[in-house]
Amino acid sequence: MTAFTKTQILLAGRSSQDIVPLASALNVDFDNHISTHIISNGHADPLYGLNALPDILILWLSAQWEDELHAFASRRPALRPPTIIISLHDDPEILRLALRSGARDFLTHPAALHELKQAIQRIIQEKHSSLESSQQTIAVLNAKGGSGGTVIASNLAHIMAVRQRIPVALLDLDIQFGSQALSLDLHPTRDIVEALNASGQLDAVALEGYMTKHKSGLNLLAAPLNRLVLPGEIVPEHLDRLLEVVHQTYTRVVIDLPRLIDAVSTVVLAQVTTVVVVMQQALASMRDARRLIEILQREIEIPKERIVVVINRYNPKHPITLDAIRQTLQQSSITLIPSDYARFEIATNQGMPLLDFAPRAPITQTLVELAQRVGGETEAPAKRGLLSRALGLLAGSKPEPATPRPQETFG
Ligand SMILES: Nc1ncnc2c1ncn2[C@@H]1O[C@H](COP(=O)(O)OP(=O)(O)O)[C@@H](O)[C@H]1O
Ligand SMILES: [Mg+2]
Repeated sequence: MTAFTKTQILLAGRSSQDIVPLASALNVDFDNHISTHIISNGHADPLYGLNALPDILILWLSAQWEDELHAFASRRPALRPPTIIISLHDDPEILRLALRSGARDFLTHPAALHELKQAIQRIIQEKHSSLESSQQTIAVLNAKGGSGGTVIASNLAHIMAVRQRIPVALLDLDIQFGSQALSLDLHPTRDIVEALNASGQLDAVALEGYMTKHKSGLNLLAAPLNRLVLPGEIVPEHLDRLLEVVHQTYTRVVIDLPRLIDAVSTVVLAQVTTVVVVMQQALASMRDARRLIEILQREIEIPKERIVVVINRYNPKHPITLDAIRQTLQQSSITLIPSDYARFEIATNQGMPLLDFAPRAPITQTLVELAQRVGGETEAPAKRGLLSRALGLLAGSKPEPATPRPQETFG
């Protein structure tokens, strides 16, 4: 199971007598990545009070299953990881609620341990194949300097690396004033301009040598720190080749682009899956965002649905309303990021991404949702097993157990 050892699995329930031995049994196979969480008396939500979401939740329902499932179903979908339900009864009402809460699998107690392991493996595999099959390249550019393009790019890349656990590269193409290394507290020894100059001999192995590694797993191709590179020194063909090699290794590529439409940025923009345009609530920013979006659509022919507008430091009381911005930009779907000067100031000074510094802060959660939206953390695949089982049960026919139940059981 080495490919999946980073998957964090949480086993939640009310009875530690039930879940602790099960966690120990599973840990043998899942490389000690199973943790437990006891749902305490006052709360029904199985994830209440946790700092980070697991990749997979195994929820062992108690006699208060109704409260537990209602509480879980009322979480926003982004805050519900793929879930396996263990229930004491094969009750149609439990199944109906489990379906509503988006559960992937449903096991009745006492279930065979190998069935549970298989259910976990299925989720891990689905997650990996759906993420890996969809290569995403996201360019982040601001409509005006200082809008937050750079911090949004680094936080998006970091969130994808941590949450999706797939190879993510962050490319700092702000070659004169790039600050991604600083914002991640990294000390690059090589930079993107050197990689571009070597692009003729570049392959996936050589590329690794130009990357600066962040402890999250994120790899940064940093901008030069101590020398001046003039824009004309970057050859568009070299960048094209560099991106080709980057895509051989990295499933998610986030590119911090300075606001400049030229031959170099056009090479990038022509091949991205999403362009994130970051603006703020100010007339000048709105005017520039409109102009930028027009250029992206007309000159570079990026379809509208690939452009995501972000209003950073959004204030609902600001005289420039969200509706006015929507109308001006002709964009209905706009992501709002609140202002949080205090957290940004400290996080930036410490070179800490927000997911590490303040995982539960509203600003971090909006960035997590943005990462899901642009990074293609896909919706749960069809829950065929559970669905057909539920339909059978709801229609009154008791479904066949999926596999005979010999061997080890738990509980
Ligand atoms: N939502 C926010 N709340 C508070 N401060 C922010 C926010 N977004 C960005 N900032 C701050 O604004 C400054 C400019 O951000 P930066 O990402 O460098 O902008 P850009 O790349 O668009 O020029 C940084 O100091 C950053 O910490
Ligand atoms: Mg910037």
